[in-house]
Order: sequence, then C-alpha cells, then structure tokens
Amino acid sequence: MRPLAGRHIVLGLSGGVACFKAAELTRELVKAGATVQVVMTEAACQFITPVTMQALSNRAVYTSQWDAREANHMPHINLTRGADAIVIAPASADFIAKLAQGRADELLSLLCLARPLTAGRPVPLLVAPAMNREMWAHPATQRNVAQIRADGATVLGPAAGDQACGEVGDGRMLEAEELRDELIAHLRPKLLAGRSVLVTAGPTFEAIDPVRGITNLSSGKMGFAIARAAAEAGARVTLVAGPVHLSTPRGVQRIDVKSAEQMLAAVLPQAPRHEIFVATAAVADWRPAAAAGQKIKKDGSGRVPVLEFVENPDILATVARLPAGERPYCVGFAAESHDIVRHAREKLARKGVPLIVANDGPATFGRDENTLVLVDAAGETALPRGDKLALAHALVAEIARRHRKAP
Ligand code: CTP
Repeated sequence: MRPLAGRHIVLGLSGGVACFKAAELTRELVKAGATVQVVMTEAACQFITPVTMQALSNRAVYTSQWDAREANHMPHINLTRGADAIVIAPASADFIAKLAQGRADELLSLLCLARPLTAGRPVPLLVAPAMNREMWAHPATQRNVAQIRADGATVLGPAAGDQACGEVGDGRMLEAEELRDELIAHLRPKLLAGRSVLVTAGPTFEAIDPVRGITNLSSGKMGFAIARAAAEAGARVTLVAGPVHLSTPRGVQRIDVKSAEQMLAAVLPQAPRHEIFVATAAVADWRPAAAAGQKIKKDGSGRVPVLEFVENPDILATVARLPAGERPYCVGFAAESHDIVRHAREKLARKGVPLIVANDGPATFGRDENTLVLVDAAGETALPRGDKLALAHALVAEIARRHRKAP
C-alpha cells in the first residue's frame, strides 16, 4: 500500500539528536510512495550528514539559501511551490522560536515563511518538536508553540519518555512510523469533518464458566480500520471493541467489552451522541443461559455437560429502532458464506437499516485483504478488492456521501 503515492514532501531537519529518526522517517515516506526533498539547517548537519539524507531520499539535499543550483537562486520559493506538506522533524526549541517570530535568516525558516498560505494551494506545515523536557516546558517554548499553532502549524507530539540527556519527560520526538501516519492522516480528505462515528468491532466472548467461553474468529481488523479511516476523515470516533489484540487508532476513544450484553450496554448510551453507527462486530448469536460461577469439572463418569443457550440482543437492530432524534445513520455488516447479496438484502430489511456492507466471512476473518459489496435501497456497489485500510477509506467515503443525503 502506498498511501503517499504522488505526494511531494519537504522534510526539514533542525539541530537535535532526533535527527537520526529523520533518516528512518525519510525511508518510511519514500516507502509510502512520497518524493522527499530534504532541507537541513547548519545545526542539523552536525548530527547527521546530508550524504545520508541524500542517499535515503534519492535527491540532492539543500542546506543553504545561497545554493547556486537553482537557476533563479530562489530555493525558498522553488522548493515549496509543488509541495503537499512541509514537515519539520526534528524541530528544535530554537527553530520553533524562529517560526514563531517569522524569522528567515537561513533556508529552512525562510522557506517556511515563504510557503503559500492562501493563494492557490496552501502548503500545510507540520512540526515535530524534539528537545530536553525543561526546554519544552519553558514558558518561552510553550508561548512559541502556541503562537505557531495560532499561525496555522500542526504540532505533532512530542512524546514523553527517556531522553538522550538521561532525563525522563516530555520532549521526545515521535517515532518515524508515528510521524508518517500523522502525515498520511493530515493529507486525507476531511469527508467527515465535524461528524461523529460510533463503531463496534471484534468478536464477543460469552462465558460458560470462569475459564471457558464461546467466541468466534473475528479479528476486529475491519472495524479498527473503519475507526481509523473515519478519524482520518476528520470525525470524532468512539470504538466499542470486543476482546482483540489490536492497538487503538490515533485519536479514537475506545471502550473495551467482552460479551454481547456488555457491548449493548456500552453502545446504547453512546448511540444518540453519534451521527453514524457502523456495526462491524461479530456478535455471538447465543450465550449460555447461565454461566457457572465455578469451573465445571469432569466427574469421572464420562458424562458431558449439556449447555443451554439463550439468544443475545441484536445491537444493530436495537440502535436502528431508536426514536428519530436519537437514531444515528446505521450501517450493518453481513459476514456470509454463500448467496452474499441475497442474505445482505434480507438483513437490510430485518434490521431496518439503510445500508448493509456484505463480505465473504470465511474468506475475510483474520485476513488483511477483503472484498465488500454495499447493499442499499438503490442497488449494489462493489468496492475494488484491497487491504482492509484501503477498503475502510473507500467505505467511509461511501458512508459520508449517503449520510449527507440521508433524511
Ligand atoms: N449484529 C449486532 N448484534 C447481534 C448480531 C449482529 O449488532 N447480536 C450486527 C453485526 O455487527 C452486523 C450485522 O448485525 O453489523 C449482521 O451480523 P451477522 O452476524 O452477519 O447477522 P446475524 O443477524 O447474526 O444473522 P445470521 O447470523 O443469521 O447471518
């Protein structure tokens, strides 16, 4: 997957030990499909060489505004005009101070000041601070950070943790993969800006006794990808997750549950606070009528326990029946093994929802790739086969379009 294909990024390095992470970041951006133009301050060149950065970016590095390679002698203009974003990583305290004041006495701060802000295509500025925790906490730095934010820059991090100086605290630059993902998210179209999305994901676990239960093979990957895609599209996202081993997507509020009843209890108060509900969870259809309080033991007779089951609540159908003012736009998933579209259409009617997303359950559980067919009153739309995150983005775009038109 190359989410930055066709994107041109200016990566600026100011002085700091975290310059070594900028090397890794360059690799990550190139792997994601971007072209990367590295610009370094004199201080950055003390920490890592332009040779390394040129080799990794496969482009000549710029370090001076007096660079004679540019025919018009204006690298600060030429380098920013075709750019999709400028990323400063690491951004030292001194460099942030320069940005805050609008100073322009070397190439990197000069090109930040000269970047298009309004005319034509504005070039976003993303800044990843990296410094000692005392420098970060200093009122002067905090003032400068507030100022560059007010001027339109996006500040990424910093994180807390061990610092090169031996101290521990706020000021570590985010890791290369985190910065790459922040940039990808930043450049996504904000199709759900100002919207709110509630997602259920993963399997549920229905206890038989304190050490056993029934569950299913859902990995939660599709639901987590949808939560991430919705957040990247600008939505406020709440994710109600069954037992899965997945990390929470950035900016997503997560509520962990185990059983179907717990999932319903978590979803019901949230549903009226969200405009869109996407039910991807593979909720267990039945649960043992009564979970044993103690582990069920073999009694040596060879007899096996007989379990009685009761039906679980249907979370999606319950939300779809909420009164008009409290009911979000509901999207259901249908994991089927055969007659996919026919079953999806039945579910559309049975659950009373405007959109069902059908997929081939056995072919998708736990896998990274998937195929999806959207089934609604207007007909069927197949999304091109792809990895779950690419599909999630395509699906979010379809949901955003339908939600805008929904009564
Ligand atoms: N769903 C739910 N609560 C349940 C069962 C299903 O919210 N108790 C939701 C799922 O999250 C999915 C949709 O309903 O969005 C369809 O789930 P699926 O398991 O395919 O359908 P079922 O209603 O369980 O029907 P069947 O098992 O007969 O195919």
